[in-house]
Amino acid sequence: MKDDCKQKFDIITLFQTNSTQTYIIEADKKNPLSEYSVVYTDNQVAGRGQGTHSWESEKGKNICFSLVLTPQTISVSEQFFITQIISLAVVDTLVEYGLKDVKIKWPNDIYVKEKKICGMLVQNNIIGNQIAKTFIGIGINVNQSIFHFAPNPTSIFLERGKQNDLRKVLNDTLQHIFIRYQQLNDNQTKTIQDEYLSLLLFKNSWRNYIYNDKSIYAQILTTNPYGHLILQTNDNEIITAELRELRFVF
Ligand code: BTN
Repeated sequence: MKDDCKQKFDIITLFQTNSTQTYIIEADKKNPLSEYSVVYTDNQVAGRGQGTHSWESEKGKNICFSLVLTPQTISVSEQFFITQIISLAVVDTLVEYGLKDVKIKWPNDIYVKEKKICGMLVQNNIIGNQIAKTFIGIGINVNQSIFHFAPNPTSIFLERGKQNDLRKVLNDTLQHIFIRYQQLNDNQTKTIQDEYLSLLLFKNSWRNYIYNDKSIYAQILTTNPYGHLILQTNDNEIITAELRELRFVF
């Protein structure tokens, strides 16, 4: 890890916790945490996923962590950039580990060849028009080979056939987050958006989706600044989908 980055992150390592995301948010309420605070465990026993989902992670096999950022350069209406830079940072890390076909399944799941390797939660504390703090929770499947609940999972081990040092994967991911965050702070928003779109799973491919409980055949065109997904159906209708409205079909 580059020195400027290593000094930045303040990592609290927990032997076990229910959820690093719950832990970091509660800890911040008691005693406000500074930017670059990280809560990490390899033993998360009640991981939270998107919506009502849970996050499966076998003890000692994967990395689960949450971190605090306080983005100064973006307003509330631009908060999708946070999702984009963190997704890109995880892709950067996995590519560095030799994984091929790493894609972003909108909005922020990381997939390898149509299998999920990483999930994340982005929770923003908003004051006025500013994002006062963002809590980002990331789970990356590293060495796990058998999954019991997760639909369609994979791990670095399953893709590369090699066990990896968890602490190194954590540090490498944080380094990439730091680099992408610098890109955001340097206002390189066009580069971020272009790279995000270029990595979007199924972009410009015709696929079946479930949109508001109805089956549609559509192609992903782009995302809008609010993070909605824009699709075109085979009836030439343009759909602007929110996360809750759209389900991918595999
Ligand atoms: C999803 O894809 O449904 C989101 C999964 C997010 C999992 C991570 S693991 C670290 C952090 N703590 C949690 O409880 N959840 C996130």
